[in-house]
Amino acid sequence: MMKSPAVSLKNVSKTFDGVTVLQDVDLAILPGEIHGLVGENGSGKSTLVKILGGVYTPDRGTEIALRGEPVTLPVRDPQRNGLAIIHQDLALVEEMSVADNIGVSTGFERGLMSLISKRRERRIVLRLAQTFGLKLNPNQMVGELSPSERSVVAILRALRLLGEGTTGNVIVLDEPTAALPRGESIKLLEMLRTMASNGTAVLYISHRMNEVLDVCDRISVLRSGKLVATREASVTTQAEIVALMLGYELGEFYPKKHVRTNEAVRLEVRNLTYGGVSDVSFAAHQGEIVGITGLAGMGQDDIPYLLAGGRTRLKDQVRVDGQSVDGSPTSAKRAGMELVPGNRLRDALWLEATATENLTLPFLRTFRRGPLLRSRAETAFAVQEMHRYDVRPRSPRLQIAKFSGGNQQKIIMARTMHQNPRVILLHEPTQGVDAGAKKEILSLVRQAADNGAAVIVFSSDSEEVAQLCHRVLVMRYGSVSAELSPGEVAEDRIVSLSQRVSAVRRAS
Ligand SMILES: Nc1ncnc2c1ncn2[C@@H]1O[C@H](COP(=O)(O)OP(=O)(O)OP(=O)(O)O)[C@@H](O)[C@H]1O
Ligand SMILES: [Mg+2]
Repeated sequence: MMKSPAVSLKNVSKTFDGVTVLQDVDLAILPGEIHGLVGENGSGKSTLVKILGGVYTPDRGTEIALRGEPVTLPVRDPQRNGLAIIHQDLALVEEMSVADNIGVSTGFERGLMSLISKRRERRIVLRLAQTFGLKLNPNQMVGELSPSERSVVAILRALRLLGEGTTGNVIVLDEPTAALPRGESIKLLEMLRTMASNGTAVLYISHRMNEVLDVCDRISVLRSGKLVATREASVTTQAEIVALMLGYELGEFYPKKHVRTNEAVRLEVRNLTYGGVSDVSFAAHQGEIVGITGLAGMGQDDIPYLLAGGRTRLKDQVRVDGQSVDGSPTSAKRAGMELVPGNRLRDALWLEATATENLTLPFLRTFRRGPLLRSRAETAFAVQEMHRYDVRPRSPRLQIAKFSGGNQQKIIMARTMHQNPRVILLHEPTQGVDAGAKKEILSLVRQAADNGAAVIVFSSDSEEVAQLCHRVLVMRYGSVSAELSPGEVAEDRIVSLSQRVSAVRRAS
């Protein structure tokens, strides 16, 4: 007999301003099941999650039931109903500490005379973090955390919300591992497995197909807002799932590496030391793609911002084509160095503005004639770029905040590439980007290198680093601990070099 679903969705539809983004989606998640939900950027995954979370009201006809009981949305008191949702944007408060972010949504731990016990709160955070083998300072402000540390906080908050070990719960995770290095996402996936074996129903959204196939029992595929298939993970393949997502076969995924020798040095970094980065030196040549990777918190996430993000003054530690860069965004720009930041919502987008305005911001003056803005030319340019990068929907006047994560990233890449940079710093360039778009973005990166740019990829995705980069530096505790030359670059070597971390340091 079929178990009755922990959560069932029937005929879920959602229309925004006349545009249907979800159409009659039926989905049931069984207790004890990890159910994958995959689909291209913009296919409607987050919208579905937001309907369940009460952020959006669905169209009429939508029916939702929890443990067989029909519910009206928004679900009242989700915690009591055993429903926890981790949204794609994590919804953390930057100005609050880690412990307060976790405590505020779950009800703080109370001690004597029901005063909030900060000490207990901190202990709980430490214990939860330890299950992941992670160091997290409960007192640190969330605004200071790296992307992967933020996801961990959001996940810990949800786990805490549901209470450990209770059955019949539903947990929904919208791309929880997008910012996590392989080693850490494995820990999260193990945790989900444990939760599922205790009877929790898990809805798991991700663009990392290998993880989805590894961890899920069943996988549902959305294409343009419609559910096209649900498959048992044990009988399907990555190629089949991707083909279902796209509607066509993707073929060879990574672009070919063009090995070039004897090219001039474009970027030179010498003895870079600041905060968690100590004495890092490397060079990148014309046409070269260099990967810098490591476990979370090893310093690699800080380097792009030290080079180009205005975080600190530099004294001749960084040169582009021999020209010294002083660490300010203006001097980086002048030298032809462009940064694509990892946190696009915060650092790369002007959220209130349209797709066009975000695309043309750095070179707006090229669309001016005297005091007038040639907005027809500006829009024509935007349409052309959105076409070239296959941004969907192709709506130049739509507010950028309303595009899906992957499509926002394509707009940022289009803007960056248009400036013909000499050095491109990419921080987690394909985080949250679907298979089709990832292929396009990586081939653009390869093209930029073939045209002479030096590209530095700061990524936690070891497969991507191995497949894309000519040379790879692995970081541990702020320094470069190993370098793989072109003949040595391979994913398993990157993973094992990253993980050789002394047990003593990790436990402290
Ligand atoms: N508030 C909104 N107003 C108008 N359109 C919206 C709004 N929110 C989302 N959309 C549109 O709905 C579609 C589905 O978006 P959604 O965020 O659900 O995609 P997704 O599958 O989660 O993509 P990704 O993998 O990039 O996160 C997109 O075309 C998006 O532009
Ligand atoms: Mg989404």
